[in-house]
Amino acid sequence: MKFSILTLFPEVIKTYIDQSIISRAIKSRLIEVEVIDIRDFATSKHHQVDDYQYGGGAGMVMMAPPVYEAIQKVKTPESYVVLTSAQGQTWTQTTARNYAKSYQHLIIICGHYEGIDARILNYVDAEISIGDYVMTGGEIASLVLLDSITRVIPDVIQVESHLNDSFENDLLDYDVYTKPLVWKDKPVPEVLVSGHHQKIKEFREFSQLYNTYTKRPDLINEVKLSKDQLKILKELKTKGAK
Ligand SMILES: C[S@@+](CC[C@H](N)C(=O)[O-])C[C@H]1O[C@@H](n2cnc3c(N)ncnc32)[C@H](O)[C@@H]1O
Repeated sequence: MKFSILTLFPEVIKTYIDQSIISRAIKSRLIEVEVIDIRDFATSKHHQVDDYQYGGGAGMVMMAPPVYEAIQKVKTPESYVVLTSAQGQTWTQTTARNYAKSYQHLIIICGHYEGIDARILNYVDAEISIGDYVMTGGEIASLVLLDSITRVIPDVIQVESHLNDSFENDLLDYDVYTKPLVWKDKPVPEVLVSGHHQKIKEFREFSQLYNTYTKRPDLINEVKLSKDQLKILKELKTKGAK
């Protein structure tokens, strides 16, 4: 899958992708990432990309023409154009998976200042928000999309690593532990060092449900739970989670 990230701050994107799983995925040719500096498409002498807003008001607005030209430069018939925006549809693990399956080329536009001249929406397929808050620019949002999609692309990381990830199967992940075996008088749960695979599986199943029930009960979809999971959930509900 190819990503084209259109931004006024290319260094922000480049710094992140040079130091993460993303760089490994690029080296392994599982994804391709190009970072496009919108300023390169400014037509004025001083490379101006923003201006005061019509109607008055504080804050500058990104001009549509440089963004439009940047889109045209990278767009192909396979491209899907996404605008990062606090007003967009909220990004979730499900949308990350859908995008990974559905698109060969994602163009992600990062806004800045008060946003981009609204006429650019005529050239955008979807507006995506990463949550109900407002950030200074779309760079972090674009990296959220890039990272969460890349993670679920086959062979980027081991399938087992994200099969039980939070939000897969409408549950949160189970608790994980590593060395030291005892830390500040707290031992790792004994079952995890028992070598007993069935008991470890049961412990993790319980931990997933416990975490979801105590932290995000809104995620639980009882229709999708197995008989064993429903039994655990019933226990949690009657005994109360400690
Ligand atoms: C300061 S914000 C503009 C906010 C705009 N005035 C509004 O209230 O909807 C500048 C840019 O940051 C990005 N941005 C801010 N919050 C975001 C969010 N929650 N999700 C995705 N992008 C966001 C968008 O690209 C936006 O154009």
